[in-house]
Amino acid sequence: MTTRTTDIAAAAGVLRAGGLVALPTETVYGLGADAENADAVNRIFEVKGRPSSHPLIVHIGGAEQLDDWVEEVSPTARLLAERFWPGPLTLVLRRGRRVPLEATGGLETVAVRVPDHPVALELLAAFGGGVTAPSANRFGSVSPTTADHVGAELGDAVDLVLDGGPCQVGVESTIVDVTGDVPSILRPGGVTREDLEAVLGFPLAVPSTSQVRVPGQHPSHYAPRARVVLVEPGTVVAEAERAQEEGHRVGILLPRPFDGADVKAHAVVEVPGSPDAYARGLYGFLRELDERGCDLIVASLPAEEGLGLAIANRLRRAAGPRPS
Ligand code: TXA
Ligand code: MG
Repeated sequence: MTTRTTDIAAAAGVLRAGGLVALPTETVYGLGADAENADAVNRIFEVKGRPSSHPLIVHIGGAEQLDDWVEEVSPTARLLAERFWPGPLTLVLRRGRRVPLEATGGLETVAVRVPDHPVALELLAAFGGGVTAPSANRFGSVSPTTADHVGAELGDAVDLVLDGGPCQVGVESTIVDVTGDVPSILRPGGVTREDLEAVLGFPLAVPSTSQVRVPGQHPSHYAPRARVVLVEPGTVVAEAERAQEEGHRVGILLPRPFDGADVKAHAVVEVPGSPDAYARGLYGFLRELDERGCDLIVASLPAEEGLGLAIANRLRRAAGPRPS
């Protein structure tokens, strides 16, 4: 089993030697490598089982380093970086020369963010360079929000797991493309659309989940082993009990408030009423229902505002058609 540690210097040493370090961020755990080491970056794709055309995010230690990694930082990009970093916002900009094409899946743009987690920031400071890191899960499956989840996903395929406790946001960063005249949200996440709009002063378009807009965003993603079906909020219990009667081992993500104690299902997870707590717990809930042996998960979508937009996006993708 891979060594789990809180030793920042050891983790920086592994990165310098071209190794892979799983690291905590405020959103989810990442599978990190030296962004400028093409061989190390290639190993990320091997370990994840991810096609090498899927671009990665470069994590840097502060907004003041942005110009070292990208070209043409527009005033809008600068504003968003200054306002939201460190934080769960990823900006897509034109690729700087330091960034190897391996890290961008061959694209001339690069995704960059400053994570808001003390351990990640200490690691970036100790290492000195940029760290490319996708979520530390196998391709297509549920992102890890604890060091235990990382172990369950990657086993000993990673050189070191840096343990920073459970992630506080729980869903991935919001990705905003700022290469064009008008910024656009490529993936809803930990920074809400409302917060972005308040800073920008104009409305932003959000892509529909069915549209595959960028590489690495196939319909089925963030998916547990169990099949996920989405139903209207008022019919969750009825649909779950029907499927259970048909012989499924049904897990329910049950929204509160709920007024019936004995639901006939295999496993019930009560979903927190607060979107923050729901986002923080979401991936853990999906893992728990898998671990309890469910083959079908019945859930409904939360209101698509604030963090609810990111939660709904992940649930839709978890329920999306799977590659056969
Ligand atoms: O919160 C997060 O963003 C986490 C933590 C570890 O930072 N990382 C994460 O990485 O979610 P990953 O690789 O699972 O998802 C990054 C996504 C890619 O799937 C791709 O859709 C998008 O970022 N992306 C990366 N570079 C891009 C680019 N140049 N243009 C458009 N999209 C890009
Ligand atoms: Mg991911």
